[in-house]
Amino acid sequence: MRHLLSPLDLSVEELDTLLDLASDIEQHPDKYRHACDGKKLATLFYEPSTRTRLSFEAAMLNLGGNVLGFSSADSSSAAKGESVSDTIRIVSCYADICAMRHPKEGAPLVAASKSGIPVINAGDGGHQHPTQTLTDLMTIRSLKGRLNNLVIGICGDLKFGRTVHSLINALVRYTGIKFVLISPNELRIPSYIRQDVLEKKHVEYQEVERLEDVIGGLDLLYMTRVQKERFFNEEEYIRLKDSYILNAAKMALAGKDMLVMHPLPRVNEISVEVDDDERAVYFKQVQYGVYVRMALILTLLNINIPDA
Ligand code: CP
Repeated sequence: MRHLLSPLDLSVEELDTLLDLASDIEQHPDKYRHACDGKKLATLFYEPSTRTRLSFEAAMLNLGGNVLGFSSADSSSAAKGESVSDTIRIVSCYADICAMRHPKEGAPLVAASKSGIPVINAGDGGHQHPTQTLTDLMTIRSLKGRLNNLVIGICGDLKFGRTVHSLINALVRYTGIKFVLISPNELRIPSYIRQDVLEKKHVEYQEVERLEDVIGGLDLLYMTRVQKERFFNEEEYIRLKDSYILNAAKMALAGKDMLVMHPLPRVNEISVEVDDDERAVYFKQVQYGVYVRMALILTLLNINIPDA
């Protein structure tokens, strides 16, 4: 039995196979309509979500399976003090696979150690968000045609943004990747990512504060929200929340092929006037999220479709 707790749980070869499967699902959805008949996905969300929970549910429904679960800790027995370890033992009796989001880093890992079913980390605190990374990789591969030889700007809250940590972990395994890390000093990338991932893998990167200075040299700009829910000090959040606002004037400084991605939800960091720019692909990115989650469910449940 396999879990997905980090993007590194999949080798580069397995990742390529999964993305190929996701592309086949995109092109031939009818082939997969009954792939999960009789199977159940549990969504255990201890933290708010729109995309991740609903795309997992849409993915399982598209595969012919069913879904059950809860969308907040308050509506589960966690509110009465039940542990994650006990909850997963219970859910293993009801479902075939589960996706868990939790505010505490490592909670899905604890669940996996007690689980009778595959556990997918759907975001744990400020740590990792591997299925967002699968979504991001499919978006980049589909729209740029490659996952190597890219200059990737990542802008915003690099300290608490778990999508950023997972994406960097996944992309350092490809060749010719250069990161431009754009953040206020207070929200710089954590030192464990800088030292244990970027420097250890000898990946080229630079850290800057001004988006305008670097936007012209990027193949891809990955914008992120300042993660209000991870701040201990509200005044600090208010001071930093509008550090970056991508607008038409800044887009005018970017190359004609630079893609703008965002894991969403956005708050103010991308002006709505950018939405109609054809380089803005954050809503397309959401659709890719359904295909990769379908492919992931099939992979973890070991379901093979003939001629897939
Ligand atoms: N991208 C993402 O994780 O969105 P949700 O928080 O809405 O699931």
